[in-house]
Amino acid sequence: MANKVTIIGTGNFGSTVAFILAMNGSCHEVVLRGRSINIAKGKALDMSQAANAARQHTIVRAAEGPEDIAGSQIVVLTAGAPRTPGMSRDDLLFKNAEIVKNYALEIKKYAPDAIVVVVTNPLDVMTYVTYKYTGFPRERVLGMAGILDAARMAHFIYEKLGYGAGQIRATVMGGHGDTMVPLPKFTTVAGVPIDDLLDSEEIGEIVRKTKNGGAEIVNLLGDGSAYYAPAKSTAVMVDAILKDTKQIHSCAVYLEGEYGYSGVVSGVPSMIGAGGAEQIIEMTLKTLQRTRFKNSVESVVEMIEALEAKNFFDDCEKDYVNLDGSESKKKNEK
Ligand code: 2OP
Repeated sequence: MANKVTIIGTGNFGSTVAFILAMNGSCHEVVLRGRSINIAKGKALDMSQAANAARQHTIVRAAEGPEDIAGSQIVVLTAGAPRTPGMSRDDLLFKNAEIVKNYALEIKKYAPDAIVVVVTNPLDVMTYVTYKYTGFPRERVLGMAGILDAARMAHFIYEKLGYGAGQIRATVMGGHGDTMVPLPKFTTVAGVPIDDLLDSEEIGEIVRKTKNGGAEIVNLLGDGSAYYAPAKSTAVMVDAILKDTKQIHSCAVYLEGEYGYSGVVSGVPSMIGAGGAEQIIEMTLKTLQRTRFKNSVESVVEMIEALEAKNFFDDCEKDYVNLDGSESKKKNEK
């Protein structure tokens, strides 16, 4: 079956995702939907030619309008303002919520069977906005972040050890923000727990660097945020869906009671296949890990409430689930 992946947003991030998919021959068609049709066309031509150089069959095209996303198996939503120096991911909240809402409505209308991978920041809240405004089942709306944060943690472990690159399996859960929860106890180098390789001070430094991983690159670049590692992490998710790998990746998903939370999005290990986040995996967390996860979930709840306080969701048709999971009804029928 021909498969088609649409990337919404043709900045560095979206373009790099498209380029990786084209170089890997991941799908038959990649569609670039951006604000400037000419830029999308230019990049699409360039990438299609690169795919030929790579002897790959993937064709990259530009969308001339929203109807061109029809038939997409996956839509990657990257559109939105990026972080600039001094700006937290959360500062982007109101600006990007409007942008994401409009694209979510477009996806609902033109690509109603798609799986959406959300990358726009603040990521967990934008995944929540997409979930609400597409009205899709939760397994078809996934935020990318856990793979990226774990890759950053793995790199910082390598920097500390000086060996093991490519063999480090790091685990990060929770929101993709300052309260993310790196989990050194669930992290190994070729199966060796990092506790046996590094002392607690060194591990603490790795945890701090992981949380600051995105901001460090924002500050160095001076204009815009990281895109190579975020794009590769997104492509890993896209490939897992296209190939129905059923492998476990940490993704931001809408929780319905897992880990004790409902009605909020957070990063948790999920089994990814052709249906999206087909299963959410519940790990047994220790008290401190649970407390950190709680803080992370609460920071996402605060942002959702900030949007609610401005009546952001009032025109949303999706059934509303209270944050404690107790009730489900149309929010605008309250
Ligand atoms: C990052 O962490 C852009 O949020 C993304 O680099």
